[in-house]
Amino acid sequence: MDYKKIVATEIHRHTGEHLSVEQITNLLENPKHSGYGDVAFPAFSLSKVFRKAPQAIASELAEKIENDYIEKVEPVGPYLNIFLNKEAVSRDVLHEIASQKDTFGDLAIGNNQNIPIDMSSPNIAKPISMGHLRSTVIGNALANIVEKVGFHPVKINHLGDWGTQFGKLIVGYKKWGSEVEVRKNPIAELLKLYVRFHEEAESNLDLEDEARAWFKKLEDGDQEAQNLWEWFRNESLKEFMKIYEMLDITFDSFNGEAFYNDKMGEVVELLEAKNLLTSDQGATIVDLEEYGLNPALIKKKDGATLYITRDLAAAIYRQRTYNFAQSLYVVGNEQSNHFKQLKAVLKELGLEWAENMHHIPFGLITQGGKKLSTRKGKIILLEEVLNEATELAIEQINEKNPTLENKEEVAKQVGIGAVVFHDLKNDRLNNFDFVLKEVVQFEGETGPYVQYTNARALSILRKASKELDLDAELSLSDDYAWDTIKLINSFPDVILHAYEKFEPSVIAKYSLQLSQSFNKYYGNSRILQDDEELNARLVLVKATTIILQESLRLLGVKAPEKM
Ligand code: ARG
Repeated sequence: MDYKKIVATEIHRHTGEHLSVEQITNLLENPKHSGYGDVAFPAFSLSKVFRKAPQAIASELAEKIENDYIEKVEPVGPYLNIFLNKEAVSRDVLHEIASQKDTFGDLAIGNNQNIPIDMSSPNIAKPISMGHLRSTVIGNALANIVEKVGFHPVKINHLGDWGTQFGKLIVGYKKWGSEVEVRKNPIAELLKLYVRFHEEAESNLDLEDEARAWFKKLEDGDQEAQNLWEWFRNESLKEFMKIYEMLDITFDSFNGEAFYNDKMGEVVELLEAKNLLTSDQGATIVDLEEYGLNPALIKKKDGATLYITRDLAAAIYRQRTYNFAQSLYVVGNEQSNHFKQLKAVLKELGLEWAENMHHIPFGLITQGGKKLSTRKGKIILLEEVLNEATELAIEQINEKNPTLENKEEVAKQVGIGAVVFHDLKNDRLNNFDFVLKEVVQFEGETGPYVQYTNARALSILRKASKELDLDAELSLSDDYAWDTIKLINSFPDVILHAYEKFEPSVIAKYSLQLSQSFNKYYGNSRILQDDEELNARLVLVKATTIILQESLRLLGVKAPEKM
């Protein structure tokens, strides 16, 4: 329910046409402290038209206001502090959620238009790292959020399955690799070869040239190169799938860079037709000086294409295939320049829709404050992290609830959920240091805390073992319930905000706030006491579980019923 609008309409009734209801709504503030009421109206903007001090206007309004949803108003200086009628508001809020259930907060913004989301996109023959985890879980949450506001998300895993690194890998494999070892432990073995390539290339300057030549062969369809590429790709993908299964994240497309191999010719033709290509020391580039950017390198001296060449083809392909409302790229901050160049080249081509492409950057995960790098073999292996998180969750469950059924399953939901939640609760642009022990805690600002709150609320409902009467009077006078009711009511705004900023952390932070508020309520009221508000209190508990579960679902975190 929109109580701000009710308050604004009431104020409007007494102030005439000087300010519209909408203008008044926008002026309303949320007081910092509950002693100042639930909404505050600053009277400054009316003082000119009425030629009166705002203090006087606030006092006069205080006399006139009368509304079923308003309990009392207090003029304090130039402000009018408004206290809502808790019973009327809680009744409406609880009825609304009881009838809408998990559709509460759905918004009709997207008209079912497509939003392709480029996400996860790890590189073949390298382990999927913590950085890719960020892209995966942020992308997945954004897909859920845009769906909640009415768009149709298309989750695309733009695999790094093409590029010069395949030349390096082939050289490495042919020089030092063994088929048996690669079959036994594909990613670890391929990574070793990749790392060794870089070590040896420091002293052996021919290696880079050899790698370039092999990549060129691959692009030209050489059979040996193709077979090795396909083998590396299949083995890697199998390993990636294990992790996606652990996270329970699916994709609509695995069209990676290689998919665009036969689509780059057209890009080059388009660029030629617009006279955008120039030659720079044998390489083919698009000058972007006008945009304050470095030139985009479209082809190397030997004719080999580049990362951006494939992204140009991919952008055009996505526009044609999905006729997108927006096209998102959930990729680390360090690639900002790349996406600026990408958009600039598309603009040079006169493709107006490039305006609707958005790079959604995110910060780095560090360990002990240090950056992790694949080249030096310094990475956190995601699979290990998720397994360790599950172990830590088991330890905690053994302490708290040793007789829990499906312990293993719940531990997975808690451990993995903890890692995902931790990633999402920070503003996505922040860098953060990863300390697993802090992530998997049942107390504090963690995913398990939210899961635990939901499980606790569900257990209250089980204990009550009472059919909820949703048609009954649902008003609550309880002061402790009030904060929780207001938070629940703000859920649609939270969704809107998360969508507008492409920021899942808005939902994660909200779920923590709602959990804290609910736990305070639980600690201070006798929810199960048999009196005339029992049914309404239980509906509030139920409403809390609905919103907590929906928040977790949007974030891609499971909500175990017991833990
Ligand atoms: N594979 C790249 C990496 O790991 C990310 C790809 C992002 N998507 C894109 N369309 N460029 O750095």
